[in-house]
Amino acid sequence: MHHRMLDAWVLWLSFGVGCVHAISSRHTFKSAAVQDSGLTYVKNSGICETTPGVDQISGYIDIASNASMWFWFFAARNSPDTAPLTLWLNGGPGCSSMTGVFQENGPCTVNSDGATTTLNPYSWNGISNMLYIDQPIGAGFSTGSGTVNSTADAAKMMWTAFQILYESPEFSSFQGRDLIFGTESYGAHFAPVFITYFNAQNALIGSGDLTGQKIIFTSLMINDGKHDPLIQYASYINFAANAPGYGPLQNASVISAMSEAFTENDGCQAQLEACYATGTGSTPADNALCSGADVLCTGEVFNPAVAGYDPDYLLEFANATNPIPPTYYVNYLKVESVLNAIGATSTYDDCNADIKSGFGSTGEFGRTFLPPLAALANAHFPILIWVGDADIKANWVGVHEAMVSMSWYGNLTLNNTALTNWTINGTAVAQIKTVDSFTFSRVFRGGHSLPAYVPATALQFFTQVVQKQNSSSNSTTGSGKKSSAAPSVRFKASWVWVVAVGFGAFFVV
Ligand SMILES: *[C@@H]1O[C@H](CO)[C@@H](O)[C@H](O)[C@H]1NC(C)=O
Ligand SMILES: *[C@@H]1O[C@H](CO)[C@@H](O)[C@H](O)[C@H]1NC(C)=O
Ligand SMILES: *[C@@H]1O[C@H](CO)[C@@H](O)[C@H](O)[C@H]1NC(C)=O
Ligand SMILES: *[C@@H]1O[C@H](CO)[C@@H](O)[C@H](O)[C@H]1NC(C)=O
Ligand SMILES: *[C@@H]1O[C@H](CO)[C@@H](O)[C@H](O)[C@H]1NC(C)=O
Ligand SMILES: *[C@@H]1O[C@H](CO)[C@@H](O)[C@H](O)[C@H]1NC(C)=O
Ligand SMILES: *[C@@H]1O[C@H](CO)[C@@H](O)[C@H](O)[C@H]1NC(C)=O
Ligand SMILES: *[C@@H]1O[C@H](CO)[C@@H](O)[C@H](O)[C@H]1NC(C)=O
Ligand SMILES: *[C@@H]1O[C@H](CO)[C@@H](O)[C@H](O)[C@H]1NC(C)=O
Ligand SMILES: *[C@@H]1O[C@H](CO)[C@@H](O)[C@H](O)[C@H]1NC(C)=O
Repeated sequence: MHHRMLDAWVLWLSFGVGCVHAISSRHTFKSAAVQDSGLTYVKNSGICETTPGVDQISGYIDIASNASMWFWFFAARNSPDTAPLTLWLNGGPGCSSMTGVFQENGPCTVNSDGATTTLNPYSWNGISNMLYIDQPIGAGFSTGSGTVNSTADAAKMMWTAFQILYESPEFSSFQGRDLIFGTESYGAHFAPVFITYFNAQNALIGSGDLTGQKIIFTSLMINDGKHDPLIQYASYINFAANAPGYGPLQNASVISAMSEAFTENDGCQAQLEACYATGTGSTPADNALCSGADVLCTGEVFNPAVAGYDPDYLLEFANATNPIPPTYYVNYLKVESVLNAIGATSTYDDCNADIKSGFGSTGEFGRTFLPPLAALANAHFPILIWVGDADIKANWVGVHEAMVSMSWYGNLTLNNTALTNWTINGTAVAQIKTVDSFTFSRVFRGGHSLPAYVPATALQFFTQVVQKQNSSSNSTTGSGKKSSAAPSVRFKASWVWVVAVGFGAFFVV
């Protein structure tokens, strides 16, 4: 990536930030490696990331003549030429990663007018190059024919997308650099399967059995993941009976009805166990068993647990008139001048219902995705599993239970290790425990899309991951982690960044 400092600077002087998008012009890259594929994109649209001198690219990865994946890349605000690349994917399945950009960890948030934005000082591109992709085809701005109905198929498309990206002059310099996988919720399906698939492709490339570029993920962070239905549906009973730190969410008669629905003959547990017994089976009968189990468990265990609450955030009732986080970005992504500027030629779909029902039809919602995660943990792949403790949907009690029950060498040690407070400037913001390169964390007052609720804490966690810190410290001052907004530094030609040092660590490199 090269900077366009001068261009941005001149435009800044001439038009001000609001008009920078006038420079957008379309670029194309044709892949030599993948047939009928390439990139169609615009550079430095001036949308969202308005910090002078910080590059961005948005557009489509055309993975086939009929399938285009939307991506939005924001260069790091500091040291983009050496900072790692982080892929951020939202879940769903079928939900757009623009949620990540505008609600969680991107360079800006959208104001209530649905037309203007405010820089996010806690944006993760403060310390890393960030790549947001809408997948599978149909999610967000991604467009094309055909549907993907399984994580395994989605992995193949994502691999093709990365082949094209890394072949292109815009992204080839990332080859060999750290590549972090950040995701949440249903991303707990995507991430371990994608990384495993990429690793298998890397091995084939290494042995000369496949031509392509190695794409090597170097660490994984999953917040509020949906890992294992059997364990996580069971967790709703305990969590609703007494959410640690918050108290009971439902009364005793509701809890007892949930409990009965879970354990009764042919109930939620029995049906999920029958689904698990199909293993990797995918006959129509297997799929029906698994999707049926999930539907039953949702109706009789999940719905009663969250009744009256925002399932993403128990500190908010379901009837909240201005729920956190706001969804103003959905309107913003329909504004024609915005779409023209960023090079979007398709219609935005925040969460695609067809994708969701497609994944439902293959029974994926009833299946466990712990085995591929366990294999990565066994291989000492750096993993951060972090959960907001105000999230009911993927509550931390259930995720913790999944991590200690997963078949990997550290499960007993993890279970026997106490959570200890993790502090920023002396304030406890989370609890963590670590076994080698595996860290579990309960994040205080975080909701389902965690960075949206506790942005400063989330950036601190991300900083740990980026810096591969290894120390036994469990506290941090968090100094320098906040990224200044443009106006206060607009006369600086280069950015001075003070990295936080000496705070708590997760990973053995
Ligand atoms: C694109 O076309 C091919 C060949 O006709 C088809 O197999 C595929 O499902 C289509 N859709 C996508 C999204 O690739
Ligand atoms: C428990 O909560 C349910 C659902 O809110 C309500 O219908 C029921 O009356 C409550 N039962 C008792 C004993 O409070
Ligand atoms: C919202 O829901 C809560 C909890 O169910 C209830 O106590 C409150 O009265 C409701 N508020 C409105 C305005 O309906
Ligand atoms: C899932 O998609 C694959 C490939 O497009 C297709 O062959 C299969 O029939 C689909 N499965 C279901 C249950 O719809
Ligand atoms: C974890 O430890 C607790 C006791 O602290 C025990 O009750 C539980 O069965 C253990 N879980 C696993 C999966 O080993
Ligand atoms: C812990 O992982 C081991 C494999 O390393 C497995 O045999 C064992 O069943 C797991 N423990 C639990 C409680 O699941
Ligand atoms: C930090 O860890 C040490 C042990 O290494 C422990 O004594 C201390 O209580 C922990 N601090 C917090 C805030 O949990
Ligand atoms: C951990 O932090 C919580 C929340 O601030 C506090 O209530 C608790 O006392 C702390 N525990 C320790 C061991 O410091
Ligand atoms: C840091 O790494 C060393 C080995 O490089 C390891 O012995 C130690 O346990 C690690 N500490 C933490 C907290 O992960
Ligand atoms: C921690 O304190 C330092 C020094 O006062 C300050 O610069 C920094 O912003 C604080 N960090 C957080 C997360 O509040």
